[in-house]
Amino acid sequence: MPDLDAARVAAFLSGPMEDIASFIAEIREDHAICWLPGIDAWLVSSHEHARVLFTDPRVTSDARVYEHYRAPTEPGTERWLAEMPFRSVASDPETLGRRLVSAALTPRGIARIEDRIRDTVERFAAPLQRRRGVVDLLGEFTAPATATVIGSILGVPPRREKEEQFRMRARKATRVIQPIMSDRQRSKSERAWVELCEYILDLVEERRLEPHDDLISDLLRASHAATPASTDDVVKVITGLVSAGTGTANIAAARALRALLQNPDQLELLRGDPFLLPEAVNELLRYDAGIVLMPRYVAEPLEVDGEELRRGQLLLISVLGANRDPAVFPDPDRLDLTRDAKDGLTFGRGAHYCIGSNIARTQIRLIVEAALEFMPPGARLREDQIRWTEKGVLSQLANLPVDFGAPRG
Ligand code: HEM
Repeated sequence: MPDLDAARVAAFLSGPMEDIASFIAEIREDHAICWLPGIDAWLVSSHEHARVLFTDPRVTSDARVYEHYRAPTEPGTERWLAEMPFRSVASDPETLGRRLVSAALTPRGIARIEDRIRDTVERFAAPLQRRRGVVDLLGEFTAPATATVIGSILGVPPRREKEEQFRMRARKATRVIQPIMSDRQRSKSERAWVELCEYILDLVEERRLEPHDDLISDLLRASHAATPASTDDVVKVITGLVSAGTGTANIAAARALRALLQNPDQLELLRGDPFLLPEAVNELLRYDAGIVLMPRYVAEPLEVDGEELRRGQLLLISVLGANRDPAVFPDPDRLDLTRDAKDGLTFGRGAHYCIGSNIARTQIRLIVEAALEFMPPGARLREDQIRWTEKGVLSQLANLPVDFGAPRG
């Protein structure tokens, strides 16, 4: 067990992902749960405890229980952030968001989603077939393909000239659920959430007058029937889906391609047997989906592994720690596409299990399948040219440079 003081914790959690994984592994050897000085939170690092705590009713994702909770302050947050559509409350544990999305996702809707993902991935893969030199697979492929998929499924088009700006706003908006942020980051994420809601409000009002073949129109239909919901409710559900689904799938897809390029034996294995892919997606997501910690709050005192957890305390459930726990995944730091990785916790567990997990899995499968087609056999990751948006637990890839080899002839 490392000697934990605030400076050591901060140094690790702001370092590169590999250091964070080894720090969490070191802690897990002695403690499934451990207090992080400076951050003032419990870190849950074992698979068993993460799995159990995700479904323990004494633990909640409602940040208002947090002892250091700060209510949103930016203009517009009263309307758009006070009540969150996927937040369980005693009067509605299932949440309006989940009820609406399940009512809207009819078999016809699901079939349409698969077709759209395939068409979109093929469209962005086509120009990469003949490319040579260094190609940024994130900027040219995973980011526009995943953003276009989400935009077209939901009916929130990325306006061409502003596509990148739209993606950045969605990423900032996702952070409204982060408990630990500077005042500046907090204001930016609250503003991004409000801006996204206002943009989506216009689209929802348009679809009320003229339904399209998209999830906004399906949600509006569902909101009239079994699950009464106001226009603002529909806007918040769509905003939740856009913010939770835009960056996550891009990053997971880019990291999956990076993991394959870093492990040429596994890439070769997959090229030799593409039928491995549907199962291999679970292993790629276990190995590195770019998700480190999920926040939870202690709603009722409880004891975990001999530690007393007080009401109001913050729990950081380490998805990365659970996914790299050797008790469940032998030799966990090795990418092994033949392993059974379905018990990974990349999409969480229980009441808040990721509602977009099937969409995400399908996107990653089709993106990897297409990349196996267009990447020449000698394609090489240019690790030296990789850029990160920032360091630490929130760090994400900003590009994925891959050398496709010299131009032919
Ligand atoms: C590989 C990509 C993705 C990853 C790694 C991921 C991960 C997660 C995780 C860990 C949770 C659980 C949160 C918690 O327990 O508090 C979650 C929830 C959620 N995800 Fe995803 N997600 C991905 C893609 C998507 C997509 C594509 C969508 C939308 C189409 C989406 C929509 C949601 C929503 C709405 C929730 C909240 C569910 C609730 O609280 O009831 N996610 N996701």
